[in-house]
Amino acid sequence: MLSWLRRPLLGKTNPRPLIRFARSEDSAALAKLHAQGFDKAWGVTDFEALIADRSVIGHVAVLDGRVCGFVLSRQAADEAEILSIVTEKKQRGNGHGRQLLQWHMDALLPLRIKMLFLEVETENELALRLYKKLGFLEIGRRKSYYRKVDGTSADALTMKKRFE
Ligand SMILES: CC(C)(COP(=O)(O)OP(=O)(O)OC[C@H]1O[C@@H](n2cnc3c(N)ncnc32)[C@H](O)[C@@H]1OP(=O)(O)O)[C@@H](O)C(=O)NCCC(=O)NCCS
Repeated sequence: MLSWLRRPLLGKTNPRPLIRFARSEDSAALAKLHAQGFDKAWGVTDFEALIADRSVIGHVAVLDGRVCGFVLSRQAADEAEILSIVTEKKQRGNGHGRQLLQWHMDALLPLRIKMLFLEVETENELALRLYKKLGFLEIGRRKSYYRKVDGTSADALTMKKRFE
């Protein structure tokens, strides 16, 4: 479906965010969101560097003028990898993650990207649900890939989506 068909519709109960490219001035907001999603948070300067990197494609979701989600991918030739995707904690389950990722994937198409990869913790059920719904397939598992702050570890699933 064309992206313009999914332009934000203002529902009565569940307004949809606007999606746009990430900009350097979003870095502080992205670092704050990242800290809501992960134990090992990336800092503002990490995001500034990523957004400035020409191989990185970033989109943010904006609701009521506030950045409420982001997704970043890195392109290498005709492949790309999702580096991170996070939505605001209090907004999860409202469809923003799916809207953001679908928009992002639509934006990768004109860049001639044929394959999109990602890694996800096996216990991250919400993320797995999102990826499976959007057509990602499991291609591998990395044992004890993630080290948690409590000292335990978790496996990572590698997933891919083919565009064509
Ligand atoms: C993964 C993430 C980006 C999904 O964002 P989101 O805004 O919740 O996405 P959606 O609202 O589109 O929901 C995705 C699925 O999770 C479900 N979901 C989300 N929050 C939920 C909740 N609190 N309770 C139950 N289901 C929930 C949705 O219903 C949807 O499933 P469905 O399509 O079967 O209904 C978000 O959970 C997040 O930021 N997590 C922390 C960071 C993270 O883990 N990123 C991924 C790392 S690989």
